[in-house]
Amino acid sequence: MNAARWLLFAALTWMVGCVTFRWVLSGPSVGRADSRGARQLLEAQLAGLGLIGGVVGLAGLVGIGVGQLLQFRDPYSPILDEARLLLRTNWGTAWKAGLVGCTLTAIGFRVASRPRILDRAPMAWLFPTVVAGALSFFPSFTGHAIGSSRLTWLAVALDGAHVIAAGSWIGTLGVMVVLHLRTRSGAPPVRSLLSAAVPRFSKVALASAATLAVSGLFASWLHLPSAGSLLSSAYGRLLLAKVVVVLIVAALGRANWRSWMRRVRAGEEPELSLRSAVPELILAQIVLVVTAVFVGTAPPTTP
Ligand code: HEM
Repeated sequence: MNAARWLLFAALTWMVGCVTFRWVLSGPSVGRADSRGARQLLEAQLAGLGLIGGVVGLAGLVGIGVGQLLQFRDPYSPILDEARLLLRTNWGTAWKAGLVGCTLTAIGFRVASRPRILDRAPMAWLFPTVVAGALSFFPSFTGHAIGSSRLTWLAVALDGAHVIAAGSWIGTLGVMVVLHLRTRSGAPPVRSLLSAAVPRFSKVALASAATLAVSGLFASWLHLPSAGSLLSSAYGRLLLAKVVVVLIVAALGRANWRSWMRRVRAGEEPELSLRSAVPELILAQIVLVVTAVFVGTAPPTTP
């Protein structure tokens, strides 16, 4: 179940990363006007990457469904009956909506991955963008946020914002690394579009980190009855472990940003350095693994 949850979180943050790169880092205002062909090539590649996220997300959702059924079911009753029962619960409804949402997002990315379609319908990205955004609220409707006894809708809204911020930072960095690897030997206009995206990424990462901190602190306050339960409960200790790894990821991110700014100041093209981006990504996946375990852990009820 934790592995399936991690797979879903990785897929969600990845799909949000593809969308963020498309609209924020490589939008029409970025790069030279004469790179329309290059832009379409980059956008088609990006949509192809988004499609992979959609398929992985579906695998994660199926795994979560099976895991929930095995946890939920009465061992003495036929499993199909139990599955029907589970699908009729609020959790089951949210899970079905997640499956539909993930399938629609994958289809949306598939359509947007066709340069011919992008040529005729440049806004083809709008559909996967909207559905991926809505899908980022799946964890809120199946996790502790919707189960919170107070400020429920604020908890759901901030939890969704938390997942979108995680995708805008970690997902976008992952997408940039893959595009960088793919375009290293690629056409110069595509490479220059990618370089033009690098400095913009630091602003996105900064805004995402701030959103993660605020929404994360709120969720911590909401789910922890006291500061002491940070150490006295399994949920609290997992949260602490997560925050420690997040701080290391943030420190690496800052080091990346400083090396980019040094290059910019030296008049060099700000290129992505895999040597620092890849460790940041690996640690970020560790954050998602720890998160997958801790959102499956019941928050403490007593201080
Ligand atoms: C790179 C940074 C981070 C990433 C990638 C990340 C990712 C996530 C994800 C995917 C969820 C699951 C949402 C759900 O299942 O409802 C989550 C939940 C949460 N995160 Fe983060 N997060 C990050 C930073 C933080 C920080 C800095 C804090 C604390 C200050 C934090 C505290 C929480 C809490 C309390 C929850 C709710 C858990 C629950 O539902 O019980 N996160 N995070």
